[in-house]
Amino acid sequence: MAASPSRCAWAVVVVVVAALLASEAAAGDDTNGVYEPCADAMVQRGDGFTFGVAFAGRDAFFSGGVQLSPCDSRLSLASRAQLALFRPKVDEISLLTVNTSAAAVARFDLASSGGYMVAFAGRKYAARSSPVFVSNSSYSVTSFTLVFEFKKGTLQNLYWKANGCSTCLGNPSFACVDQSCAIKTSECTSKGGKVDCSPGIQLAFSGTDKHEAVLNSWYEVSRLQQYSLVGLFSNLKDSLTSQFSMFF
Ligand SMILES: *[C@@H]1O[C@H](CO)[C@@H](O)[C@H](O)[C@H]1NC(C)=O
Ligand SMILES: *[C@@H]1O[C@H](CO)[C@@H](O)[C@H](O)[C@H]1NC(C)=O
Repeated sequence: MAASPSRCAWAVVVVVVAALLASEAAAGDDTNGVYEPCADAMVQRGDGFTFGVAFAGRDAFFSGGVQLSPCDSRLSLASRAQLALFRPKVDEISLLTVNTSAAAVARFDLASSGGYMVAFAGRKYAARSSPVFVSNSSYSVTSFTLVFEFKKGTLQNLYWKANGCSTCLGNPSFACVDQSCAIKTSECTSKGGKVDCSPGIQLAFSGTDKHEAVLNSWYEVSRLQQYSLVGLFSNLKDSLTSQFSMFF
């Protein structure tokens, strides 16, 4: 068997995914013809960019102590992980959700699929984030920020930016897990509670595109974060964010 990552060895699990785009719409067409998350793309501002998020137990992302890309067949994730695919526009601030209440129909359960997620894209460059805690039977994190770092249009790095716990500190329905607010899973609709605990992933882009134009949505997000990003995503407000007002 070849040790290098081969074609993405996924049986693509259907999860219901909604992407809401905000911020300035980038002009122009999508010039990126790469739709596979396990292939290399070179992008410009406004292109679509396909990436995947794999949900599994933390250990499932490692082989021999080394974290491999979920595209690497040595992990054999196809049999023990769930996959969500997204195609946001490069350098547009976007909020993605994995609708777990609708997906429950498709037997998609974050906690039972292992509770961690890894974002990934590319083959030769094989960028992957570290595994981040999403949910277990005690706690669920519902808000994430994922930063894409491009260099001349090629993805170099993907990382989660913890949102901090200042908004939930001292609230008995929450705990601070890995520097992010985590709600008690018993408050989630899947467990008979009132909150839709579908994870929301806010995207930001940094670095340069293939024409060396600077991607700056990360700058905007980090500046905005001291206020509230909620207003940017007014469509999602009712379904994902205003429900938390019952706790505050
Ligand atoms: C998830 O799907 C359910 C059922 O289709 C819907 O009622 C709910 O509003 C959706 N939630 C989000 C966050 O899109
Ligand atoms: C759930 O995750 C939290 C944070 O990582 C941990 O403290 C807790 O022990 C876990 N609970 C269970 C039941 O695994």
